Amino acid sequence: MITQILDSTRDSLSHAAELLKQWEVVAFPTETIYGLFAKATDEDAVRKIFLAKNRPADNPLIVHVADIRDIAQYAVVENELQELLIDKLMPGPFTLVLPKKDIVPDITTGWLSTVCIRMPDHVIARQIIREAWYALAWPSANLSGRPSPSSASMVMHDMDWRIPLIIDGWRTLYGIESTVVKLDKIEKTEVGWNKQYVVKILRPWFITKEDLEDIVGDKAIVEYHDQGVNESPGTRYRHYSPHARIMLLDDIDHRSPDLLLSDKDLTKKTACIATKEFLGHYSAQFDKLHQNYGVLTMPLGSRYNLLECAQSLYQLYATCDILWIEQIFIEGLPEHGVWYALMNRIRKSVSHS
Ligand code: TXA
Ligand code: MG
Repeated sequence: MITQILDSTRDSLSHAAELLKQWEVVAFPTETIYGLFAKATDEDAVRKIFLAKNRPADNPLIVHVADIRDIAQYAVVENELQELLIDKLMPGPFTLVLPKKDIVPDITTGWLSTVCIRMPDHVIARQIIREAWYALAWPSANLSGRPSPSSASMVMHDMDWRIPLIIDGWRTLYGIESTVVKLDKIEKTEVGWNKQYVVKILRPWFITKEDLEDIVGDKAIVEYHDQGVNESPGTRYRHYSPHARIMLLDDIDHRSPDLLLSDKDLTKKTACIATKEFLGHYSAQFDKLHQNYGVLTMPLGSRYNLLECAQSLYQLYATCDILWIEQIFIEGLPEHGVWYALMNRIRKSVSHS
């Protein structure tokens, strides 16, 4: 199947909507990353997504709606706190796990009794959901285990010959995937008299622990649940990785790269991804170390500009693949507040390489 890339014009959007009606899978941008969409309630269409991505069947998909009022068709909003989170954070880079309704087939939710719901903050993305008349399953448009795409060319790299159409909507604003949150009731309230719920962050990003704490106030505690095997099946699989081996240059002591390299590694094709503030520092170290072998240095962005770094992380990983880079050194970033999620993605790519 030939894969076409089209700019997002009125005609190309009609074409995408037409393909949807024929149970085809189309790649389309959201404000976080590009995803592959198909009707969430149609088993055959959803099966095509799993095939195109080579995705394990037990890794469920997020159901995307165009309007808050549509959520009730697909999921049960059980309490006021879930209502509050929906009200404050949708549309946006935020996904909420809720009990699922029967209309959502098991294949979409990996046979779980819950479903992830998201309402993208992207006018064209919402328009295409409206045209489909149904909610859309919309996972990242990468092959399973590879970095999520934040541009149409990254989608093409993984999806060429696998899907009929990619709609090009430029680089995405947030660069990495939405924050995924689940709310559970606390049986015994030993953590605090008023706190009846725990808000679990299964996948961190732009909506941070601090943002969620501001919203829920004293009604709930907010915790990260993104380490090891957690309730988000996606975390069981290798994630966010390019082909190269990735080594972290630790943030605390700016450990020198030579401690991480053996002599035979010195001849490998190497890249160094670092912030503008530290790129020169690392370049000088590599110059001493590699002598005749050049190391490709790649600026991630500024340590003072989170979105710039988030937008480039997966892009740079993709570039390293195109250039057949064998090993990547990457600078460690701050690990608090809104930066936490970026280091979460970097650590996942490091530990699994
Ligand atoms: O930003 C995003 O969320 C993007 C754009 C395209 O909307 N979508 C996305 O989908 O990242 P995907 O399929 O690549 O990641 C969905 C994550 C996976 O880790 C999956 O395991 C988890 O959400 N997930 C889906 N349904 C779940 C459920 N019922 N309970 C817990 N985790 C769930
Ligand atoms: Mg994904």
